[in-house]
Amino acid sequence: MNLRLILAVCAATLALAGCTSAPEPAPSTQQLLADGAKVYGSNCANCHMADGSGISGRDPGMVNDAVVTGDPTILIRVTLQGSDAVLPADRPKFSETMRGYPQLNDEQIAAVLTYCRHDFGKGAAQIDPAQVQAVRAQAGL
Ligand code: HEC
Repeated sequence: MNLRLILAVCAATLALAGCTSAPEPAPSTQQLLADGAKVYGSNCANCHMADGSGISGRDPGMVNDAVVTGDPTILIRVTLQGSDAVLPADRPKFSETMRGYPQLNDEQIAAVLTYCRHDFGKGAAQIDPAQVQAVRAQAGL
């Protein structure tokens, strides 16, 4: 192939790629962390505490918690549906209950969970809005 042909093929490929409807770009980690701190402060901190330490016997701590650092699907479902619907019956008991937050949108859920994993969960991988959307669809929420 001569150079002119290679350039033509490249241009055609780029043009085609531009025509396919690209999905919404995922928010950056920095954006998720900034938004997540706000969502956490207004929805979660009154029980789990601003530093994620929880309250003994009342609300579990988030710091290095197995659910926070673990399977993203379980973590997303706990936040959307509440703990009773998702976690095993023989888990430690707390005097409060954890209701679900289906009213938070995919970006807000992704943000608050990314924040919890980053700040309290030894930097476990971020959660993307697309993952929340998939879990919501799968659980019929
Ligand atoms: C009314 C107090 C309260 C609020 C507000 C609250 N939680 Fe909880 N959360 C709890 C309690 C109590 C549990 C344990 C419930 C259980 O095991 O049944 C829990 C459990 C959890 C768990 C599972 C932890 C584990 O190891 O079992 C996660 C994750 C979690 N909450 C995240 C959140 C997030 C994110 C928010 C804010 C969007 C939030 N919580 C708001 C009280 C609360």
